Amino acid sequence: MIKHLRVPENKAQEAKSFLEKLQALNDSFLPIKKEGHILWPLNFEVDGEIVECEGIKATRISRDYRLRLPSEIQNLAPRAFDIFGDIAIVKLPEELMEYSETISQALLDSHKNISKVALDLGVKGDYRIRRLEMLKGKSDFVSSHRENGFEFTLDISKVYFSPRLAMERKRIYDITKSEETVLDAFAGASPFSVGLAAKGCKVTAVDSNPAAEQWSHNNFKLNNVSKLNYNFFCSKIEDILPDLPLFDKIIMNNPTNSLPYLQELSKKLKSGGLIHFYKIVEKDEFFNVEEHLGPDFTCAFERQVHPYSPQSSLMVFDISKSDSNVQKTNQ
Ligand SMILES: C[S@@+](CC[C@H](N)C(=O)[O-])C[C@H]1O[C@@H](n2cnc3c(N)ncnc32)[C@H](O)[C@@H]1O
Repeated sequence: MIKHLRVPENKAQEAKSFLEKLQALNDSFLPIKKEGHILWPLNFEVDGEIVECEGIKATRISRDYRLRLPSEIQNLAPRAFDIFGDIAIVKLPEELMEYSETISQALLDSHKNISKVALDLGVKGDYRIRRLEMLKGKSDFVSSHRENGFEFTLDISKVYFSPRLAMERKRIYDITKSEETVLDAFAGASPFSVGLAAKGCKVTAVDSNPAAEQWSHNNFKLNNVSKLNYNFFCSKIEDILPDLPLFDKIIMNNPTNSLPYLQELSKKLKSGGLIHFYKIVEKDEFFNVEEHLGPDFTCAFERQVHPYSPQSSLMVFDISKSDSNVQKTNQ
């Protein structure tokens, strides 16, 4: 028999927050709905109407791993972390390092799909490689990750990949037409390119990191993309640009260092085409497209992809080039 706190349904959420604060909510059992009331399972008795009855065992493992941590670090441990395939990637402040074993175990216990926990030591260098240290599990950073119906296998310690861009990649996939030509200028392991080439676009993917080339070929193959739909060049984009044709769409996903390339890459955009330009923007910064590219270019759309730091955001700007034919017919 389990002690429950009985509250009217309209007070259920308020009671839940109160019990969570006290750490009195027993998450091994489910709340019970009965006669217009909710019965919250308790770890210990609290003030209020207490009902003792058979508890309903929670079969689902709680997704909030922090509930499994000792109370002194529950609120200090990071709420959010990334998952790539079966690897949890977690950032820990210095003062939590002594608890890294406990935190890793709690992550493994609360997420059945995770079998390794890696410490994120930050992204560095031109290749934007994540420095990682395995806290739990075999020290092998290769994993397979599913996103928007595609599969990506790669070594996350050798080539950049951010699971947080899934929604953004879906947006680009949805607004790109299958007959369009696309330049993915900073392709990484090709998560943008694979989807677009699978859709039927003719994609040119470029990245200077040799590991990006290796995993990109693997990912095109893994997703049964026809070789007629893509080319991958392992090169600095600035070195190969003179040899490339004009494109309907250009993806510039190198947000920490994209601006120096904007002008040169914009020359490879067809009239009526779009550049998907990713940039880290400081809170008080205003990014003005016309200022950088002149009056032929306008910002057709912009949004925050996700916060980057307390003072900055990862933003995307869809930059359109006016259609010279339309202008002529309108004159
Ligand atoms: C932030 S990552 C983006 C990867 C990929 N677009 C994605 O969504 O996962 C930026 C990539 O640009 C590549 N890169 C950096 N400078 C480059 C350059 N000058 N030419 C080509 N690739 C470059 C890096 O190797 C890295 O893979």
